[in-house]
Parts: sequence; C-alpha cells; structure tokens
Amino acid sequence: MIVLGIESTAHTFSASVIDDKKVLSVSSDMFTTKTGGLIPREVAGHHAEVCDQVIQSALDKAKVSIKDVKLVSFSQSPGIGNCLQIGSIAAKTLSNNYSIPIVGVNHCIAHLEIARLLTGFSDPVMLYVSGANTQVIAYQEGRYRVFGETLDIGAGNFLDQVGRLLSLGFPAGKIIETLAKKGKYISLPYGVKGMDVSFGGLYTNIRNNLKKYNINDLCYSIQETVFSELVEVTERALAHCMKKELVVTGGVACNSRLQEMCTIMCNERGAKYKSIPNEYAVDNAAMIAWTGLLKYNSQKRSDTADELVINQRTRTEQVEVNWR
Ligand code: FE2
Repeated sequence: MIVLGIESTAHTFSASVIDDKKVLSVSSDMFTTKTGGLIPREVAGHHAEVCDQVIQSALDKAKVSIKDVKLVSFSQSPGIGNCLQIGSIAAKTLSNNYSIPIVGVNHCIAHLEIARLLTGFSDPVMLYVSGANTQVIAYQEGRYRVFGETLDIGAGNFLDQVGRLLSLGFPAGKIIETLAKKGKYISLPYGVKGMDVSFGGLYTNIRNNLKKYNINDLCYSIQETVFSELVEVTERALAHCMKKELVVTGGVACNSRLQEMCTIMCNERGAKYKSIPNEYAVDNAAMIAWTGLLKYNSQKRSDTADELVINQRTRTEQVEVNWR
C-alpha cells in the first residue's frame, strides 16, 4: 500500500512516500534565515511556494505516480497555524482530485511512531526536543501521555533565541554545538521544576550578562545545563513508568552531546538507549505517512471532515490512539 505523507507544522515542508514495510522517499525544504527568526507568514509563504515541487520530488524519487497513492496523511496538529494550513490544503486537494482516502495525524505522536519503527523498541519513553516542543512522552493507559515538559519555550527555540542574541542565524543549534567544543564550564541557572523544565530564567541571565561571557564557554555551559535538565526529567519518567527503553527525537536530538548524556544515563540505570538517523529525528514526512498508515489500518476509513480540522494546540494526551 503506497502512502503519501505531508508535514508542514513549522519550518520544514516535507513529503514522503512509504509502503507497508519501508520508506521509499523523503523530500524536504526547510525555511532558514541568515539573521533573525521565524515569521509565521513568511514561513507559510515558503511552504506554499515549494509545496508542489516537494511533493512531486517525493513521488519521483519513489518512482510512483499520484495515481498509485492509496492513502494521503498530513500533520494536522500541533504547529504554526499558517504552516499547518498549507499542508492541510495540499493533502485535501490531492485527496479530492484523485479520490484518495485521507487521515490527519498528530506531529508529536508521529515522532514517536517512526522512532518505534526505526529502533525496534516496543514501548519506549521518548524525549522529544525540537524548536517548539520539549516533552517527555510515553504510552500509558491507552494514550500517549506527557510526563514532563517545558513550562515556557521549547529547548530548540531557546537555543535559537540565544543564537539570535549572538547573531548566529537560524537554526543556531549546530553552531552552538561547534562553538561548545572549545568552551569550558561556567555556572548558569538550572531550571528543573518537578517533572518539568523551564528556560526563561536562563535566557534572561544570558541576555543580561552577555558581555561578561566568553562565547565558547557560554555555548558549552548552555549545552551542559539544558541537556542535564532534560536528562534528569527523562530519567525520572523512565523510573515512574518502569520502562526500559529510551529514544530521543526532534531537531535537538541531532546534538551529539545530548545523545552522549542519554547513553550514560541509560547505561547507569540498565535501560536501553537508541538514537535514530538525523533525517528521521528532524521534522520529516515519513513519520506522518507511517503514523497515518497505522491509524488508517486500524480505523479502516478516512477521517471525517470534522476530524480533519487543523489545530495549533492539540496536546499529545488528547489524541485517541486506536492502533495500539
Ligand atoms: Fe517535530
């Protein structure tokens, strides 16, 4: 069964073709800037511009035509409204024009499902760290539930905001990781609150003391501080849920220091840690196609018009999981 997935929750417009067993193609185009951050209207403009070409490229790479596609799946929540709209319109147009069944999927849950597929883990805790999202998610009592999360901004968003202070451009995480290799530790505010994390205080401290800090030391210490916070709450979620597997995903999961810290924590508590290839940790449409297939195989029908409405704020635990 050939499935076309479409992802457009934030900076990346992506299309992917999969069959029941494997990913046949992924084609993505990411909005970037040299300075400054994301302006929703501009990002949606980018998506509208590249939409047709990205979808066609995914079909071409998979050597299929739109007429071979038996299911269209798109990310319907959560995300930036303007951006969600573009993916939703593209998916609904193809579904209508070619009479293809259609389902909408939750972006955060799609990250977890593709991670399960790629790692072979059956029931992992997932640390999901991207620009907008920072959550520790696990399956419990019939739903994916959040066991810890940011109280203000996502860790990736925080890194990008620091990047803006330091004029590093967007996205800033990779540059911060490179600069951190030459830095040494300085003490910064540590924001763990119960099972949750917060980065607002740390950001204010950095902004107010920017001139005092050496940039390499700052980048090194930001990573040590933020990643320690994430690993601490993730370990507590593993303990609370009595689970033995951990995956880390989202754009920030590409950071090798975060992966190293997760490996150490899991080794020390007898849990298994697996990373996934960067192309599937960042926003990608393969995860949307795969989760769409799981959902469709389980419910055996298209979503209704009401079920296909996009939602910027749907929370992970609100989503009905009918395939597990
Ligand atoms: Fe994401």
